[in-house]
Amino acid sequence: MPNKAIHEVNRRSWNEGTKAHNSHKGDQAAFFRAGGNTLFPEERSLLGNIAGEALLHLQCNCGQDSLSIARHLGATVTGVDISDEAIRVARQLSRDSGIQASFHRADIYDFFAEASAVYDTVFSSYGALCWLSDLAAWGRGIAGCLKPAGRFVLLDFHPAFAMLDEEWRLRHDYMGGVRHEFESGVGDYVALTGAAAEIESLLPGIRDFKNPHPGVEFQWGVAEVATALIDAGLQLSHLAEYNYCNGFKPMSDMVDLGGRRYAMPARLPQSFPLMFSLVAELKR
Ligand SMILES: C[S@@+](CC[C@H](N)C(=O)[O-])C[C@H]1O[C@@H](n2cnc3c(N)ncnc32)[C@H](O)[C@@H]1O
Repeated sequence: MPNKAIHEVNRRSWNEGTKAHNSHKGDQAAFFRAGGNTLFPEERSLLGNIAGEALLHLQCNCGQDSLSIARHLGATVTGVDISDEAIRVARQLSRDSGIQASFHRADIYDFFAEASAVYDTVFSSYGALCWLSDLAAWGRGIAGCLKPAGRFVLLDFHPAFAMLDEEWRLRHDYMGGVRHEFESGVGDYVALTGAAAEIESLLPGIRDFKNPHPGVEFQWGVAEVATALIDAGLQLSHLAEYNYCNGFKPMSDMVDLGGRRYAMPARLPQSFPLMFSLVAELKR
């Protein structure tokens, strides 16, 4: 069963964290009006030609990637996120940029219960899996949203990466949905990552942000993620691991590869997985 009480804790934490993140990003509507695009080559290529298709973006936060997909890939986009602040900003950004997309504030598990099989593609990326309290229900929910032969596209940070602390020391379990509660809540990773933020002119914004609300994350292994989708009736057509990480630099000594991409420091093994991607199709 999804743990709705924990999701509410995370909603409060994301509301505050999102304000801190946006405080660094300047005029995002102007960025989009000028043709800005927050997508990385990996998700662009995984999504492929989706012009004219209906796409559901799960855990879309403030919708920057949703709007980029609508504008640059030509899909009709629906974004869903639990955070009130994220959805408020997403709607405002859509209005101010003139890019059409619809945004719903909801726990994805509630959204799944109401949704029907109208989407050609369901998409989720960068920091989504760790907030899911029930992976089997997530897989079933995605299957229920897809049209027959529809696709799910996922690109996320690797669970092996999430086992490590800022000094590259092992700190968490790998799998099993093991829960990690942290008093410090959703942090200001935009300020931490600096130039990795999608809007390049990073503003000082809120300094020394301290989230008043705690957060709760879950550790799911890659096989558990794939199994949840397979059990829900999807068929894997792609699975890949990457030894670099897009737009996120939690360890200060990560190597900057350019293009908002970061890799392992030279003193450590180079083939360590930092992201993974997966595509699965509904067999109906
Ligand atoms: C790291 S962000 C994802 C950012 C996203 N990749 C993007 O396009 O900007 C994680 C998001 O998951 C959302 N979230 C966490 N738990 C959720 C839930 N149960 N239902 C819906 N959204 C949730 C948070 O509010 C947050 O916006």
